[in-house]
Parts: sequence; structure tokens; C-alpha cells
Amino acid sequence: MSANGIPDRPSENGPPDGPSDGPPPLFIAFLSLIFGLIVIIVVFYIIRYFREKLNRTETETRNAASANKPEEDVVEVIWEAGQTMERFLQEIRREKPVRFTSLQLNNFTSNYSTRLGFGGFGEVYKGQFPNGVKIAVKVLNRNLGRIAEEQFMAEVGTIGRTYHINLVRLYGFCHDQHMTALVYEYMENGSLDGYLFGKKRALEWEKLHEIAIGTAKGLVYLHEECQQRIIHYDIKPENVLLDANFSPKVADFGLAKLCDRNKTHVTISGYKGTPGYSAPEFLSGNYPITHKCDVYSFGMVLFEIVGRRRNAIVGASESLDWFPKHVWEEYEKSELGAMILACGIEEKNKEKAKRSCTVALWCVQDSPADRPPMSTVVKMLEGVVEVLPPPKPFRYLDLIKMTRLKSLESSDGLNSSNQSRWYKETTPIMAKHDTQ
Ligand SMILES: Nc1ncnc2c1ncn2[C@@H]1O[C@H](COP(=O)(O)OP(=O)(O)O)[C@@H](O)[C@H]1O
Ligand SMILES: [Mg+2]
Repeated sequence: MSANGIPDRPSENGPPDGPSDGPPPLFIAFLSLIFGLIVIIVVFYIIRYFREKLNRTETETRNAASANKPEEDVVEVIWEAGQTMERFLQEIRREKPVRFTSLQLNNFTSNYSTRLGFGGFGEVYKGQFPNGVKIAVKVLNRNLGRIAEEQFMAEVGTIGRTYHINLVRLYGFCHDQHMTALVYEYMENGSLDGYLFGKKRALEWEKLHEIAIGTAKGLVYLHEECQQRIIHYDIKPENVLLDANFSPKVADFGLAKLCDRNKTHVTISGYKGTPGYSAPEFLSGNYPITHKCDVYSFGMVLFEIVGRRRNAIVGASESLDWFPKHVWEEYEKSELGAMILACGIEEKNKEKAKRSCTVALWCVQDSPADRPPMSTVVKMLEGVVEVLPPPKPFRYLDLIKMTRLKSLESSDGLNSSNQSRWYKETTPIMAKHDTQ
């Protein structure tokens, strides 16, 4: 109040003089600072929350999708640029076969509507992952009890650990109260037997020769290259599958066994394999069982590729028409060439086919030690070495009627360094000519 009783007017410019009733400016500035900081912190946490949520959803989607992802996709992801170590490790883990439920397999195979084939241990159905990748599902016959379990463990324990272009890929498996099954990559052109003895389109002999070499390379990997040696025990055309390009892949590891590479032989109980393909040592017991029993079976497949017929055909009067013996007889008479032409192989492939026959005769030698290792078989088939004359095979047939053969040797010569008995290195010019 002024002296004349007129109340003081607040000054127009600036704050009124004397004590004011509003908070001091410094306090307001301080409050605004605190408020600003709180807003920044809240916004920061909101953003972080949503980012984490987004990441979680992405990972879940990826994990769900990965169950059905084919190998090629996984490999592609592994080498994506700028990925984190966590992601890399996740992808590596996925390389192992995936476990599926029976309900999933039911969906993948549209309730098992298309049967691809069957064997002694189960039926194989066509299917598809939700991402479109085709698969083959082998449902093991549970009525076989322990045998089915052993099959399952043999397959997952052997092929589940391998990766090779000439071995069929195991994507995953199922083992629950409803079923035991194995999930493989789908092989468009089925098994080799259909092209050798069945009604499927005849393949050029050259293609068959390539299939033989590819199959042999798959066996080289099993016997000589993977960490623990794998013996297949059931090599035959039914177990060689062909992809869309007729590239071969060895399949059906139900009888396969892992073994220590340093051991000279494996102990097995009873007969393994398929009659007509399994090595004589299974019956005669004169030689130890080693990986060379696969070499014998492969030799039988080679004979069948040349003859486009089963190696053994039982005639009406129970007479046995055994092609390998016929090949040996023609070889002894130096008439392999004529026999090959009689089999329908063209003149241009005659030399290659003669070589195949000679390699087959080496593969089926009575003594496992006399059979070449698979890496040598590949070299001989490819024609980069000169194949030496094989000794007479099937001597056991003459002796089998007599008392059991005394053991001809104690080991199978696994560490034998005498490579020269099967082949001779050719000069580069000859090798080139041979390959051409
Ligand atoms: N991955 C696959 N793709 C296409 N056909 C397959 C596949 N796996 C198996 N088959 C077919 O099913 C048949 C039996 O399969 P296989 O694995 O040999 O079973 P088994 O142990 O019963 O002999 C094969 O001979 C082949 O015709
Ligand atoms: Mg089979």
C-alpha cells in the first residue's frame, strides 16, 4: 500500500520489488532438470524393454523354424557377415539331427500318404517340412522290439555324425511313445536297384560308372576319413540312393557300426548283411570281420553295374547262375571284352567296363587282406593307376565242402604297406589317355 492508500501496482517490467510468493528461479531450474532426467531415463527403459521383447520374439521364431531347416540353409546362415558369437554357436548346435514329435511327422507326411519303399526294418514315406524341403521318413517297425531299437541307435549314432556328399543326410529323428522314426533328405530318384533290375528308365553306362565311383567315395569316407571308422555291413543297390542329378548317396545305416580304427577287427554276433552281397567270412569264420566286408559287397555291386543284372539268379531247377564266376572265367580266357559287349555296353565304354570287372574281382577276393582299401578302389576305377591282374577268387567255394579252412592268416593286413599288389602307378601320359 502506498502512502495515499492506493495499492501498489506490480511493476510492468520485471518482478515486483520486495519478497515474492512464487518459488525462486533457481529452484524451478533445478526441478526442470530433475524432471528432464526422469523423462530421459523412462524413455530409455521403454525403448530397451521393447527392443528386448522384439529380440525374444525373433529368437523364438528362428528356433521354431530351425527345427525344419535343411542343412544348406543353416550353413548359409552360419557365414552371414557381422553375426554375433551367440548366433554362430546357436547355428552350429543346429547341425545335429533334430528331435521331432510323432504329431509333427504325421503332419510332414500328410498322414503317411505316400510310401517310397520298404526294407527289412520299416517303411519309408515321402514328406515335406513346412518350409517346402522334401524329406523321407523311415518308420521303424516297433514289433521288432530290441532289433528296432538297435537299428535306430545304429543310424543316429553313425550317419547322424557324418557329412559327406555321397552319404544320405539325416535331418532328425522321432522317438516317443507312439513311434520310432528317422528323417532323411529326400532322394528324388530312389534307389539304384530300380535302374539296374527294375522298370525304371535305363541309365547310360557311363552314368552307372560315375554312380559306382561316387558310392566308392562315400565308403572311403566311412572307412578312412571320418573320426571313427564306420562299417556299413549292408552295401547293395537298394541302399544306394540317387538324387535329382543321379548323384549317389549311401543310405540305410541300420546295421552300421562305429569301430576303433586301430583295432584290426570287430567282434560281431552272428550274420550281418544280405545274402548275395555279404562277405564269405560271415559264414566260413576263417577270417576276422573287418571293414573289408564292405569292399566285398561293393565288388558285387560293380558286377551288377556291368551286367545290369543280379549277381546271383536261381534258375527253375534250383541251378545257380552266378555272374561273378562267369566274369572270372571270361577274364581267365582273356575274353572279358566280348562278354562286356554281350552285356549291351557300347564299344566306347568297353575298356572302362573291363577295368570295372577287374576291380570287382579284386574286391571279392576270399581273404579280406587281399581286397584293396576303398581309396585304392576309387583310384583304380578312375583309371589313374594301372590295375594289376587279380588272383583267382572264390576258392572258398571249392573248399567249403571240406572241413573248415584253417585260418590263412591272423590279421587282415590293415597296416599292410604293400599297395603294389593291386595296382601300378602309370606314367602321367598313360593316365591321361586312360582317363580320356
Ligand atoms: N531318403 C530317401 N529318399 C527316397 N527314397 C528312400 C529314402 N530312404 C529310403 N528310401 C526308399 O526306401 C527303401 C528302404 O529304405 P532303407 O533305408 O533301405 O530301409 P530298410 O532299413 O528297411 O532297408 C529304399 O530302398 C528306397 O527305395
Ligand atoms: Mg535298405
